[in-house]
Amino acid sequence: MEITKFDLKDKNELLELDRECFGIDIWDDDLWKEILEDLEHNIIYLVKQNNEIIAYLMIYNWGKEKNYVKITNIGTKSCFRGQKLAHKLLETMINEMKKEGMKDFRAETRITNYPMQKVFSDFNFINVETYKGYYDNPTEDAFIYHLNI
Ligand SMILES: CC(C)(COP(=O)(O)OP(=O)(O)OC[C@H]1O[C@@H](n2cnc3c(N)ncnc32)[C@H](O)[C@@H]1OP(=O)(O)O)[C@@H](O)C(=O)NCCC(=O)NCCS
Repeated sequence: MEITKFDLKDKNELLELDRECFGIDIWDDDLWKEILEDLEHNIIYLVKQNNEIIAYLMIYNWGKEKNYVKITNIGTKSCFRGQKLAHKLLETMINEMKKEGMKDFRAETRITNYPMQKVFSDFNFINVETYKGYYDNPTEDAFIYHLNI
């Protein structure tokens, strides 16, 4: 198992995993195109096992412009869940961003996404707010998380 950075050759496999993780609540093609055209700010970490992508974490690094890192997407292939892959991805990302001087991390998740809430709480993210009806497909509130290190 290794953690690597996304390369454009990984695109189809990543999109397939994203569909498995998010079903009908996936981003549309235009948004993906925009993201993949700006890999300087959109940083994508992949967990690979035998060359297969089994988990991923995406962030938007605002750098000096806004001074925070936004977690935009994270997913683990269903048969690999519960093996700490999300923890490993977050740890790798936070350590790397820390070296770049980033100290402020932000994220959100559905109020019924208990595995994700467990991961955020393990990294001491604080649930600072609830956004009503933030998600579509299905409509649901979001817990907003902040971490300052
Ligand atoms: C959320 C997700 C990324 C977690 O990935 P993962 O690799 O399984 O995560 P980890 O194994 O590192 O940690 C998950 C933790 O949640 C815990 N957990 C699982 N189900 C749980 C539940 N119903 N209630 C509370 N905790 C739960 C696990 O026990 C584990 O904690 P532990 O390591 O202390 O035992 C994965 O479930 C996923 O891909 N879901 C679909 C996509 C998604 O919802 N992404 C997040 C969008 S914000």
